[in-house]
Amino acid sequence: MPVERTLAILKPDCVRKNLQGEVIARIQKAGFKILGMKQIRLTKEIAGAFYAVHKGRPFYDGLVEFMTSGPVVPIALEKENAVADYRTLIGATDPKDAAEGTVRKLYADNKGENIVHGSDSAENGRIEVAFFFGESELV
Ligand code: RTP
Ligand code: MG
Repeated sequence: MPVERTLAILKPDCVRKNLQGEVIARIQKAGFKILGMKQIRLTKEIAGAFYAVHKGRPFYDGLVEFMTSGPVVPIALEKENAVADYRTLIGATDPKDAAEGTVRKLYADNKGENIVHGSDSAENGRIEVAFFFGESELV
């Protein structure tokens, strides 16, 4: 299987609940290599640009509001089959639908505040990693 990059973001609810270590431990135990990691506060412009694909959807404004409500932790990950394996690890968008033992099932409150982001394709994995990290920050 091809080696892929995928972007994880520990969302503001994850940071507020002090769950960064728990989630990162699960990512590491699942065999992902961490290429880069940082804590930042997104502006409305940056959060809006990152989620531009959802612009016009009913949840877009709330999503931008939420993603700017506190610090987030973008993490660049690499692994064979990284995109699909990471999405299996985090579970469905809505924790009500997420499989037992997944990050969102364990820790998320609702569909909007769902602890983590994950890229949805190998192409978007590369694009989203490059959105937050320069090549010199990926080691
Ligand atoms: P993400 O992009 O954050 O990894 O999440 P995802 O692929 O599982 O879900 P997506 O459809 O891309 O939605 C992006 C984020 O928008 C919020 N959302 N809220 N209230 C709602 O109906 C709703 N739908 C989506 C969630 O934070 C979701 O993760
Ligand atoms: Mg998505």
